[in-house]
Amino acid sequence: MIKLQPYLLPVIALVATGISSPLFSQKTSVKDIDARVEALLVKMTLDEKIGQLHQVPGDISTGTDVAKDDLLTQIKAGKVGSILSHTNFDNKIAMQRAAVGTRLGIPLIFGFDVIHGYKTIFPIPLAQAASWDMGAIERAERIAAEEASADGQNWTFSPMVDVSRDPRWGRVMEGAGEDTYLASRVAVARVRGFQGDDLSKNNTLAACVKHFAGYGFAEAGRDYNTVDMSEQRLREIVLPPFKAAADAGCATLMNAFNVLNGVPASMDKHLLTDILRGEWGWKGMVVSDWNSFGETIIHGAATDEADASAKCLSAGSDMDMAGGTFQKGLKKALESGRVTQAQIDEAVRRVLRLKFSLGLFDDPFRYLDPKRRAATLEKPEYRLAARELAANSMVLLKNEGGLLPLRPDGPFKKIAIIGPLADSRSNKNYMSFWTLGLGDVSQYDTTKVVTPGMALKSSLEEAGFEVTITEICFNADCTEKDFSAALKATAAADLTIVCVGETGIDCGESRSVTDLNLKYNQEIIMKIAARGNMPTVMALFNSRPMTFQWASENIPAILVCWQPGFEAGNALADIITGAVNPSAKLPVTFPRSVGQVPIYYNALSTGRPQQQQGQMWTSGYLDSPTSPAYPFGFGLSYTTFSYSDIKLNKTKLRTGETLEVSVTVSNTGQHAGEEVVQLYIHDPAADIARPVKELKGFEKIKLDTYESKTVTFRLTEQDLGYWNHELKFKADPGKFKVFVGGNSRDVKEAGFEIVR
Ligand code: BGC
Repeated sequence: MIKLQPYLLPVIALVATGISSPLFSQKTSVKDIDARVEALLVKMTLDEKIGQLHQVPGDISTGTDVAKDDLLTQIKAGKVGSILSHTNFDNKIAMQRAAVGTRLGIPLIFGFDVIHGYKTIFPIPLAQAASWDMGAIERAERIAAEEASADGQNWTFSPMVDVSRDPRWGRVMEGAGEDTYLASRVAVARVRGFQGDDLSKNNTLAACVKHFAGYGFAEAGRDYNTVDMSEQRLREIVLPPFKAAADAGCATLMNAFNVLNGVPASMDKHLLTDILRGEWGWKGMVVSDWNSFGETIIHGAATDEADASAKCLSAGSDMDMAGGTFQKGLKKALESGRVTQAQIDEAVRRVLRLKFSLGLFDDPFRYLDPKRRAATLEKPEYRLAARELAANSMVLLKNEGGLLPLRPDGPFKKIAIIGPLADSRSNKNYMSFWTLGLGDVSQYDTTKVVTPGMALKSSLEEAGFEVTITEICFNADCTEKDFSAALKATAAADLTIVCVGETGIDCGESRSVTDLNLKYNQEIIMKIAARGNMPTVMALFNSRPMTFQWASENIPAILVCWQPGFEAGNALADIITGAVNPSAKLPVTFPRSVGQVPIYYNALSTGRPQQQQGQMWTSGYLDSPTSPAYPFGFGLSYTTFSYSDIKLNKTKLRTGETLEVSVTVSNTGQHAGEEVVQLYIHDPAADIARPVKELKGFEKIKLDTYESKTVTFRLTEQDLGYWNHELKFKADPGKFKVFVGGNSRDVKEAGFEIVR
């Protein structure tokens, strides 16, 4: 029987006090929550306080039935504030019961990496960003939150908003790509999706924006590696998506593993206190990354657990994930005067506030209702949303001669589907490293995935095509002789779809690479398929930008499918048959070779830009053009779009005024389609060098055949400003260029001026 403490009683009359923040803008006012937190805090012992700052891994990491072992004892002793990565539902109930049964009855908060869906697996975050569809991304996270919250999770370690310009880094798949503006828009959509409009509802999750900060700029693309960058670049490129998430009311934030400009991010006071809580006025709770407090000792920036605890807590971090550093060191740090009781109390307050705001004190079991769980997980409409988003994330890079879509009345009747990823269910293929929430750890269920082979066979055969599926050797020992089945299959076909790419475990945390080419001789498979100019479609299943120069030059149709999730095959079939017209655009530049990395669209101009390869005394390579294989923002459709010249409502912009930039986009082809209209600026008259282009707006529009629409973007001085060398945010008077187009390379240009 659960003993209800006075502060566990439901709040009956809640009157808005006028003190509101997006974080706590629920039924329960901030003032009310604060009063309840203070009433609780005065009753807590030091050990109980340290317990609230201690987060312990659950069954995914330990593989054990944690509710029965030592963990339950620790919970009963009030030594645990939070559990992460735990799947077993009944054990969550047992753990919560143990927590609520303690002296003060403080409920646990369960955190989980809900990265691209929980039970229903959506495309990876990088793919979702390629949709440029903020509504669809928000909806995907709403569904993920419905499922995760019904399964007892209260808190997701998402969104990851780390901007990255380095495809070698395995976690590039978890972010929104290389652009800070797109990443900021995606961050807001994700936070809204997870948190909904009321964090205290039982179908919402607290979001956690991560990793603060600079993690995506690890040297050499090697995970966890050092980051060193100017404060100007930090503020301009790295921090805006965090700020956007914070402004959208994101409840929590996670430290980064890396050292940033010499300081381990978990003990970076400048980041956590001066910027995050000071300049931004953010009120949420900061959790470490996995043992990142303890790792400050390995960085050589703390001598022992007490020193690490003192440094991390005083910098502004609150909860200790997985490492147990606070458990070992925080009391000693207090006793030796390196932290104050007030500092510990402040961190505990933030944890308690989060638990109150989630409604956990009002009903600790509100997320643990077996009936809601049964009624919520894996609804058919969730799979439909996953299918739509997967198809709308697939980027068509090449479609020579309108090879796609395949029409029953077209020239091709016999279709061969070949390749190691034609019909594979091993290695979390088509999904990723992060598909954790698939039931108990040991019961990962690969049968949930619709493979390309399965879906293409049924949809193409239904449309009257003859289809063969040939899976091909996919390991380091594959040689040409293992590909004889492919040779046979393609010889008997009119057109081949080659499914190549990465396995699901080639990406994610600690999966950095030095080579972006297709591995295990997959290029040979493409050469077999395309021999003698046979019509060939390359379907690439990838977590990161990859390099495939031979295919770009020789394969007529190339589709970037990413890791599309459960509905991989159906989404691919929708694109191949034309049921869905591709509309996605690259959120990252695709290089020609790994040697070009880092390559990104919003670079500064050198003093010697290269016009053409080989030009002496210019900035380039002897052995490669400087341009990428495919630029940021690029993606084709089955139809074509034309852009009118840009119209401006004024050519001189004064303080307080708004510039309107309009362009008319027309569908000039045979299919209805969607276009992502993109707006970029360049400031050639600034006090410092500015990027050659910067994305400042986009709109995804639908156009029927031969339909036209006018899109108007609005810019103010705020959008034109930047962090200057004195670290002041300002816009300079003088000339500006504005560009509009369907990608970052092919644009129309106009000019205006800021006058004062
Ligand atoms: C990752 C985080 C993740 C955490 C919990 C860490 O290793 O860097 O992004 O949220 O583990 O699984």
